[in-house]
Amino acid sequence: MKESSFSQISHLIAGQTGLLLREQDDALLRQVVAGRMKARHLSDVEQYARLLASDAGILSEREELVVSLTTGESYFFRDSGQHALMREKIMPELIERRQKERSLRIWCAACAAGEEAYSLAILLDELMEDQSQWNILILGTDINHHLIERAQRGIYTEWSFRGMSRELRQRYFEQHKDTWVLNDRIRRRVTFQRGDLLGDVFPDRASQLYDMDLILCRNVFIYMAPRAVSLIVDKFTETLLEGGILITGHGELYAHTLGGLRARVCPESIVYQKAESPALCQWQTTPVETSHPEPFLPGVLAPVPVAAEETGETGETGETGEAGEAGEAGEAEISEMTQAWQYANQGRRELAEKACRAMIARNSLEAEPYYLMALLAQERGDFPQARELLKKVIYLDHSFVAAYLDLGDLYARAGEGDRAIKMRTTARDLLKRWPGDQPLKFYGVSTADKVLQYAENLLHQ
Ligand SMILES: C[S@@+](CC[C@H](N)C(=O)[O-])C[C@H]1O[C@@H](n2cnc3c(N)ncnc32)[C@H](O)[C@@H]1O
Repeated sequence: MKESSFSQISHLIAGQTGLLLREQDDALLRQVVAGRMKARHLSDVEQYARLLASDAGILSEREELVVSLTTGESYFFRDSGQHALMREKIMPELIERRQKERSLRIWCAACAAGEEAYSLAILLDELMEDQSQWNILILGTDINHHLIERAQRGIYTEWSFRGMSRELRQRYFEQHKDTWVLNDRIRRRVTFQRGDLLGDVFPDRASQLYDMDLILCRNVFIYMAPRAVSLIVDKFTETLLEGGILITGHGELYAHTLGGLRARVCPESIVYQKAESPALCQWQTTPVETSHPEPFLPGVLAPVPVAAEETGETGETGETGEAGEAGEAGEAEISEMTQAWQYANQGRRELAEKACRAMIARNSLEAEPYYLMALLAQERGDFPQARELLKKVIYLDHSFVAAYLDLGDLYARAGEGDRAIKMRTTARDLLKRWPGDQPLKFYGVSTADKVLQYAENLLHQ
């Protein structure tokens, strides 16, 4: 395939599927395109491009392309921390809140072969004795219709149980030769249907996608470009009830606009709640009364510009605030930095970048402008640049916890596990030295303790 044709088709596929296609995916993409053209009996890549550009063509091709370019890997009780959070805080709170209506609506979006949705059904079975008096929907959807059919059958092999205790498996499954069959009572509690997160319109009553108390969408956004993620997050927000919760995989909404959702940092995970009023968030483990009045900069760990004295930075060096030239210069810097954060929060990214560049031109040893630029680069989907900028932040300030954690996420996302661990370990070690009950710069209202638990959790997942 000619380079120009490949580049054209690659752009088209990225646009039509929402997938993030990086240079290292080129070989796979070439293979997939060749396979699809063969399946469609097309010899000319231009014909395939025309098919993808047509409404009818993309409807069927999107599933094929997404299935070929992502993985349907899943297992029961994947991420023990998030399941503990659901069992101990989120579910009890939702049950309490919906006691009057006796109704719960849960959606596992991109549920693969059903392990995640059934894990929730089992979790609820353990938690609720009076389920028969409730109206409970657990809905699993996935773009891959083969996986949906497997989910409906409820038959699994050993490999799906690597996150589940033998005892629990014994209680809910029956062994048949080398497979495990889910008991019928639990199987009937979950409804599965095919669904395309990008192409489908929701909320939608006809397909049950409305008024959700909880949406789980884990390990999906890692495959997607920022624009697609934002689109889907907006649709999720509309599909949630007020007070409803969205759970994604760790770090998956990092540097994304949260719109009507609020990020809550819990020790086990960050989750997102649709809440106009902070008072609704009763289950949260962090206080809300100090939440920032500005919309947060895109990003889970919403960075709030905090004056230097609040962070104890000056205290560490011993150069405490003697009023004078240094103090005034510091204040001017803070206000320009704050302005840059505000531009970013308002979506005026060019102005935010411009402000950062101006600060860097005057003082190239200041780490924070580079950090904001790194977040903006992530938001554009320019991860190589984000990496470089975060490395620069760390070079300038060895104690910049947020930069270590962000870089760790970028490495994890790129499958560079060892490097991710190294970054997260450094962040954890730094956090251990922080006063645990103090808010941590760039982490909104969360204390250093909470962020430490989060870092520990990332290291143990
Ligand atoms: C790695 S699996 C995650 C399964 C499960 N959520 C978990 O965390 O274990 C990713 C799933 O996302 C699905 N997927 C990818 N893009 C999708 C889309 N646009 N709409 C619906 N499902 C999609 C894939 O088919 C795949 O089953």
